[in-house]
Amino acid sequence: MSFGIRGTAILGISLLVFLIVSLTLAVHLSTTTHLVVRHAAEKSTMQAQQIFSGSTRVMARAQRGRLGGALRSNRELRALLDASIGYSPHLVYAMIADRSNTVLMHSQRSYEGTKAPSRPRIEQLQEMSALRQLAVLAGQPQIFETILPLSLNDRPFGAIRLGLAGSLLWRELSPAVRQSLLLAGLAFPLAWVAAYIFSNLVIVSLRQIAQGVDRMTHGEFDTAFASDRDDEVGQIAAKLTLLGRQVQEDRSSLISEKAKLEGIVHRLEDAIILLNSEQAIIFANPAAETLLAHPLVDAVGQSLAQILGEAHPLVEAAMESFQQQHQPVRNRSIQLGGYHNPPLDILASIFPVLDRDRIVGGMILLKNTEPLRQIQSIVDYSRKLADLGKLTSGVAHEIKNPLNAMIIHLELLKQKLNDPPDSVTRSLEFLGGEVHRLDRIVQGFLRFVRPQTLELRPLNLNSLLREIVRLTETQGTQTGVTFVFRLDDTIPPINGDHEMLRQAFLNLVLNACQAMPNGGTITLATDHTIDGVIRAHVIDGGTGIPADDLDKIFRLYYTTKPDGNGIGLSLVYRIVQMHGGRIDVDSRVGRGTTMTVAFPIT
Ligand SMILES: Nc1ncnc2c1ncn2[C@@H]1O[C@H](COP(=O)(O)OP(=O)(O)OP(=O)(O)O)[C@@H](O)[C@H]1O
Ligand SMILES: [Mg+2]
Repeated sequence: MSFGIRGTAILGISLLVFLIVSLTLAVHLSTTTHLVVRHAAEKSTMQAQQIFSGSTRVMARAQRGRLGGALRSNRELRALLDASIGYSPHLVYAMIADRSNTVLMHSQRSYEGTKAPSRPRIEQLQEMSALRQLAVLAGQPQIFETILPLSLNDRPFGAIRLGLAGSLLWRELSPAVRQSLLLAGLAFPLAWVAAYIFSNLVIVSLRQIAQGVDRMTHGEFDTAFASDRDDEVGQIAAKLTLLGRQVQEDRSSLISEKAKLEGIVHRLEDAIILLNSEQAIIFANPAAETLLAHPLVDAVGQSLAQILGEAHPLVEAAMESFQQQHQPVRNRSIQLGGYHNPPLDILASIFPVLDRDRIVGGMILLKNTEPLRQIQSIVDYSRKLADLGKLTSGVAHEIKNPLNAMIIHLELLKQKLNDPPDSVTRSLEFLGGEVHRLDRIVQGFLRFVRPQTLELRPLNLNSLLREIVRLTETQGTQTGVTFVFRLDDTIPPINGDHEMLRQAFLNLVLNACQAMPNGGTITLATDHTIDGVIRAHVIDGGTGIPADDLDKIFRLYYTTKPDGNGIGLSLVYRIVQMHGGRIDVDSRVGRGTTMTVAFPIT
């Protein structure tokens, strides 16, 4: 049987208070009873002694054989006997009896000459315990006697006997007993009320805590356990609030981690499918749906065989892995036909998930080999292009030799033809000019196709730009060009080939100078974006590039300059590309051009 906290508190406190009150009252009652009985006994003894001294005087004067008469007729003695009854609230009689219990003198004369019955002595009552005394006094009315023996000529003669009524003693005690019982009776309900109020105070707080815990079980972990109490209950409430906050924080971070993880898994190009022990789907990412061309993300609970069919190669592979007990299937090449035309080659890996040698599920990883195949074909193609580059540079070299021979022979021809006619001279000069143009083209081509390898080292872009200005300053000042730096000192070093990047930025700065034939300012700037990309800008206030020409300027041999080769920007483009970076142009005719080179995060 359970009373609950309130019931137990009320019962416990009430019983305790009742016990304490009862014990206190019992002690009080026993002390009072003892005192009343002792006081009555002592008083009656004193009265008996007064009668004793009066009667011994009378007995000493009286003649032998007439003692009874002498005692009875003595007025003084009789007054003493009457007074003792009148003054004492408990005494009901006083008498003098001889050895044979014959009453010689009695406060009620009618008893004189009769036999006095024997009564219990007051000392017997005194010797009893308080409880027994109370029981005896409250029970049948009884008379207790205080007896003082009398002697005559040193021989026992009789006794003075004073009768104390038990009922009169009880009458004196009964108000105290009633009061005590009333108090004990009141103590219990009072204690009950006090315990009820006290337990309510505790229970209200406990209830608030229980409601808070309830809210927590429903996911409201930011619940504040409001308690203005400064005791243990208050401390528990504060600790629970703290606990809730911690759980809430942990939960939030768990949710965000889960979301991140889900985001990653959802964006993965590889397919992931999680199965339970019955090969039913627990989870599948969108890539799995795309690869298998079946709705899997929302097919949680359905078995793989149900969705794909028993004969599907993936289902067979999964079955094999599950049946072969614990053996993962790795990189099995599977061809997905039907919905994929042409059929798609994928690599499937199946890993059983074990719990103490028992399969509780499995994880399927599917990799589309198509992008790999495409990369492979690009690599093959690049290799072929590189071979072709070697071949064409070989051919260009071969062209250079006959061109040199043609130049030499043209000079010889000029010398041999002494004073040729004007038309021949013009033709010879035209031939010479064209041969030189061809030579420049071949040399530019050779520079462009020459196979180059990168020597990457940490490189500070700011220092590189300062170096470029040192190289071009003299040339710039001749045409009235000045340089301004706007460099970000916080940019980290990039991984670059110093020689190549110097060549690239030199070309950009030279183009900028050439775009300002009447002088002006070239600004060289560096900065980095929030996502860590490091950028260098070459800004001029020159002629600018018409919008229609913007997509031509990086083409090989594109030039608008009379003595230009059209190779500079093509080289810049190639070098930037080799560094994994990109180049952007922002230009307005008549206002100037900004070339921005961006390098990836290292
Ligand atoms: N800063 C610039 N301002 C205006 N036009 C420019 C600028 N930079 C390049 N161009 C245009 O782009 C063309 C191609 O530039 P590119 O550097 O490739 O060749 P080029 O300067 O003409 O010859 P070279 O091979 O000697 O450098 C230029 O002829 C010019 O028309
Ligand atoms: Mg140029």
